[in-house]
Amino acid sequence: MPIVINGVATEVPPDPRVSLLDLLRERLTMTGTKKGCNQGACGACTVLADGERILSCLALAVQYDGRRITTVEGLSENDTLHPLQQAFVEHDGFQCGYCTPGQICSAIGMVAEANRGAPCHVTADLAEETVVLTREQIRERMSGNLCRCGAHNGIVEAIAATYGDGAS
Ligand code: FES
Ligand code: FES
Repeated sequence: MPIVINGVATEVPPDPRVSLLDLLRERLTMTGTKKGCNQGACGACTVLADGERILSCLALAVQYDGRRITTVEGLSENDTLHPLQQAFVEHDGFQCGYCTPGQICSAIGMVAEANRGAPCHVTADLAEETVVLTREQIRERMSGNLCRCGAHNGIVEAIAATYGDGAS
């Protein structure tokens, strides 16, 4: 079975050592997904696998045979940005933009986790079934995605405006 990347079936490379990140960037020239540390520490390479956020630098492409991968290139529809992409623009959620694809994919995966009621380090009541994405919750749940430009305040505001207690 092929990997389905942004809706397009793609054969896995025969070399089992190829990471999902290198498959995307170097073999498919899909450079939206960024390589920061290449060792699981920065979150720049975050993509979605069947809706779950994963670090593509730590994933072997062959492990995802038959799975559905979404990268930042797969979020917009024609010329219309995904609402979270638009919010990043409106809330100054980036400066250089290098961490941004990972931040956005991670946030979408994070929201799915919160919608399932998954607790995090700042969850006061573990029995709570509904997670309200306060700014504190967003900061904690997004703590695996670093921004060397220090755009974290704008990132949190963009996520809160789209999904959190700041959403209309
Ligand atoms: S490049 Fe994957 S976590 Fe940094
Ligand atoms: S916007 Fe530059 S690293 Fe985040």
